[in-house]
Amino acid sequence: MADNVAAIWDKLKSHDDASLTELFADTDRVSKLSDRIEWGEGELTSGILFDWSKTHLDDGLIAGFEELADAADFAGKRAALFGGEKINSTEGRAAQHTAQRGVGTEAAVEEAMALHARMRMLVEAIHDGALGEVKHLIHIGIGGSALGPALAVDALTRDLALVDVHVVSNIDGVALEQAFAACDPKTTMLAVASKTFTTIETMTNAQSALKWLADGGISDPSGRVVALTASPEKAVEWGVDETRILPFSETVGGRYSLWSSIGFPVAMAVGWDEFEQFLAGAQAVDLHFEKANGRANLPLRAAFADQFYSRIKGCQTRAVFAYDERLGLFPDYLQQLEMESNGKSVTAQGKPVDGPTAPITWGGVGTDAQHAVFQLLHQGTRLVPVDFIASIAPGDDLDPAHHRILLTNCFAQGAALMAGKANKDGARNFEGNRPSATMLCDDLDAATLGALIAFHEHRTFANAVLMGINPFDQFGVELGKEMAKSIEAGGQEFDSSTEQLLTAAGLS
Ligand code: F6P
Repeated sequence: MADNVAAIWDKLKSHDDASLTELFADTDRVSKLSDRIEWGEGELTSGILFDWSKTHLDDGLIAGFEELADAADFAGKRAALFGGEKINSTEGRAAQHTAQRGVGTEAAVEEAMALHARMRMLVEAIHDGALGEVKHLIHIGIGGSALGPALAVDALTRDLALVDVHVVSNIDGVALEQAFAACDPKTTMLAVASKTFTTIETMTNAQSALKWLADGGISDPSGRVVALTASPEKAVEWGVDETRILPFSETVGGRYSLWSSIGFPVAMAVGWDEFEQFLAGAQAVDLHFEKANGRANLPLRAAFADQFYSRIKGCQTRAVFAYDERLGLFPDYLQQLEMESNGKSVTAQGKPVDGPTAPITWGGVGTDAQHAVFQLLHQGTRLVPVDFIASIAPGDDLDPAHHRILLTNCFAQGAALMAGKANKDGARNFEGNRPSATMLCDDLDAATLGALIAFHEHRTFANAVLMGINPFDQFGVELGKEMAKSIEAGGQEFDSSTEQLLTAAGLS
């Protein structure tokens, strides 16, 4: 099979490139490369249009990538994902985040639903006053235990939040102090979110937050804590009462855990019904990804373009610009999802990979980014494939001019990157032929956010399958953690540069 895969890559690499403008000579191009994923029924139908027509994918390339997907056993690996097989081979675990959205094996879905029911009871009890008056929630976690909650709370509570949520991740005490300054200990509860319940940043921050509650006159600070974890026994040891521990399955990876009890602060902020909408949007994408084949599978189609730019065109980065203030944290979220999943150097079989793996994901919000980094996208020497995300319905109630200008700018950027504009004066010349994809949402509500995130989870998985790597482990983060522990413990010699830094900071 490896030879077969190598031969397909060779064929893909020798594919004749047409420019984007030439590709648009095909009058069916837009309909061939744009599709919607929808959810809801009748008048309540909503969805996202995924327009990949401004990428260099054409019939030939897509057919080649379909062949690659077959050779890489995409269908088999996808079945293994949904079927609860141990596809995280290095850790001997399944990856069952979709079960949280009701798609997966019966046992995993049943377990997830039972845990959600427990979470719902606690969320509603707290909303009803079980912990006294709760105005603020400080959510403490890091990585996958923080980025999802931060994104979802930020995106979905611009109009109204039932509880004021502060997500604190960094061990730098400045972050926690900032949350303290915005909260009153008498009306604040804590969520300690950690899959392992051992992460040093989270446990140190949680301890300091307990002290802050005690200093603020709370007689039983641990009575104000909810633990969100796949290691409930550790949370009990740490002093959280079992009734306030919301467990989730070991088979839900950290960066895929927003759908589990790690989503507790989201449900607290937006209410349970909205949280269910969030899950429902993700489920619509799961069902699409599970059933659609070849080019009709939109996350897989996106991965074809990703692989084309990364492996064939040598692009080292991919940029994501949301023309929506509410998605300001989306690039941060995607960075962990894509770079921690697919930033690998070995295949799932432990052999060196035969090409570049995940590009660097970066981005920002439009139109701000236009006035900061788009110069490089239009005229720099590096080719950067760009994703645009926008919502047809506005998020604001101001003069409609705001949203109109926002959207026209978004669409103009994609058109300008593609078309360019020739000018004899090199400084004013726009080469064009620069690719972009656009995700146009009907409305950025909870279901749409769920769908957008699930789309990127599956896109990440599809990319991993095409590259032959395991997207579900993250051993690369361990070495730095170990070294930090050794420095803390003392007595070990490091390189002379590190020793100098330790001495300068008074740490040796
Ligand atoms: O260091 C990386 C990582 O393991 C992430 O994958 C994870 O999301 C994060 O740390 C936090 O881990 P935990 O939820 O166990 O505290």
